[in-house]
Amino acid sequence: MRFEGRVVIVTGAARGIGAVTAEAFAREGARLAVLDLDGAGADATAKRLRETGAEAVGFRADAAAPGDVRGVVDAVVDRWQRVDVLVNNAGGFATIRATEDITDAEWESILRSNLTSVFVASRAVLPVMKRQRAGRIVNVSSVVARGGAVRVTSHYAAAKAGVVGFTRHLALEVGPDGITVNAVAPGTTMTERVKALRTPEQTREVAQTIPVRRLGEPMEIAEAILFLASDAASFVNGATLDVNGGQVMA
Ligand SMILES: NC(=O)c1ccc[n+]([C@@H]2O[C@H](COP(=O)([O-])OP(=O)(O)OC[C@H]3O[C@@H](n4cnc5c(N)ncnc54)[C@H](O)[C@@H]3O)[C@@H](O)[C@H]2O)c1
Repeated sequence: MRFEGRVVIVTGAARGIGAVTAEAFAREGARLAVLDLDGAGADATAKRLRETGAEAVGFRADAAAPGDVRGVVDAVVDRWQRVDVLVNNAGGFATIRATEDITDAEWESILRSNLTSVFVASRAVLPVMKRQRAGRIVNVSSVVARGGAVRVTSHYAAAKAGVVGFTRHLALEVGPDGITVNAVAPGTTMTERVKALRTPEQTREVAQTIPVRRLGEPMEIAEAILFLASDAASFVNGATLDVNGGQVMA
């Protein structure tokens, strides 16, 4: 098993890509801390993992709130004494709007959940990973940061492009400490949130812009995240891995 005994934190793991990623790590022997704004959802994910024999704990936490995240990292270190992998997956957007209709509050909120969360959670684990002189951070960006993508929004695009820039800089900064930092840029992926964003006709329209003529499945994104967190990716640092069926070739 690729992650036997390793301690993995996944943000935004109540559902969608985060939940499937946590399940994939657990199948590979990892010990999981899953956090989400939806505390009941995080607990439900952790319970499902424990039912498969994995060690897992759920937390209600805002990944962009320093106090919440510090609380989770402290609890994880108390329990397992280390943090091997952080997956910064929390984020997303719920409403498609023209830029002139985006309110200040919405702009702040999307930047906060998709970009500030990546900084806040990374900052919280770095002292632990530096002490270990080892660690892996995998950030979830988006195809929209890699090229134009239809039916998305400019605040989300700005946040996810910020994730790519943050990934590169942090990789440069903490590479000497034995920590790698990479990103996955998923194409449109069939989670419940994304299904609700568009009509079936609009979803077919998006699929037509993708060379493989279909949307991604959450497990296909999870596999890329696990690769970047695994020993197989030991020399991959500062990269953004496109997982999008060829929709954008950056
Ligand atoms: N599904 C796609 O098509 C797609 C494509 C590209 C990128 N992504 C990215 O992948 C990630 C997961 O997307 P998804 O489709 O699974 O979304 P989702 O809505 O199904 O899951 C996201 C989870 O993150 C949680 N969350 C949001 N903000 C949070 C915060 N501040 N603190 C803690 N938890 C928070 C939500 O409560 C939710 O449970 C997001 O970052 C999204 O932007 C998704």
